[in-house]
Amino acid sequence: MLVVIKENYDDMSKAGAQQVASLVREKPDCVLGFATGSTPLGMYRELIRMHTEEGLDFSKVVTFNLDEYVGLRPSHKQSYHYFMYENLFKFINVDQRYVHIPMGMAEDIDAHCAWYEQKINEFGGIDLQILGIGANGHIAFNEPGSSLGSRTRIKTLSAKTVRDNARFFKKPDEVPRYALTMGVGTIMEAKRLLLLASGAVKADAIKATVEGPITAKYPATIVQLHRYATIIIDKEASSKLEETYL
Ligand code: PGA
Repeated sequence: MLVVIKENYDDMSKAGAQQVASLVREKPDCVLGFATGSTPLGMYRELIRMHTEEGLDFSKVVTFNLDEYVGLRPSHKQSYHYFMYENLFKFINVDQRYVHIPMGMAEDIDAHCAWYEQKINEFGGIDLQILGIGANGHIAFNEPGSSLGSRTRIKTLSAKTVRDNARFFKKPDEVPRYALTMGVGTIMEAKRLLLLASGAVKADAIKATVEGPITAKYPATIVQLHRYATIIIDKEASSKLEETYL
């Protein structure tokens, strides 16, 4: 596991974008795993800049997102479909035919999850999976207690997540209770992992992920078993680490 500590959020975002960009240049038809949330936004802005100013070409790139809320249409402003289009896809030349995001409106959820896994395999697996981390150590919607061998499936959101999300919705009954998410096992099959974290609020989760024992209590700790995992964090997120890193 390579731990890279950057001065601040901007530097973390640029370092992350460099990793993605060098893969895209080296392998133009690579398979990228994207994440939502506030953490990767700066990295996505930098990728957009690289596309606009430097001609970074995404036309052959295949994408798979980690997760999506159940019951939200892709056009819903809180859906992860909407997030990805508004924050990245509409500003770069990614081919919509190669974009994959779990479908929260799928009628047969189990069949859809199996299809999603199959699609990842058909494209030869994910070359680089981008990850955020929850303050509780979750990756994607694999909350504490998730099986470390899990596959893409439906998960019940924790009461805390539902409460936290309520502010984004007009009525309490609109707040999603379930999500579709790649499993921990699915994520671990990516050829490389790139986990980003910023801010003191992530310091405990990063300490557990980098230096703690592997445990389903902090699903992110499983990345210790990955052969090619890079963790890029800012100073604040690194503040509880005991060892010295780059
Ligand atoms: P955040 O979320 O980037 O908004 O902090 C990360 C996550 O929960 O995975």
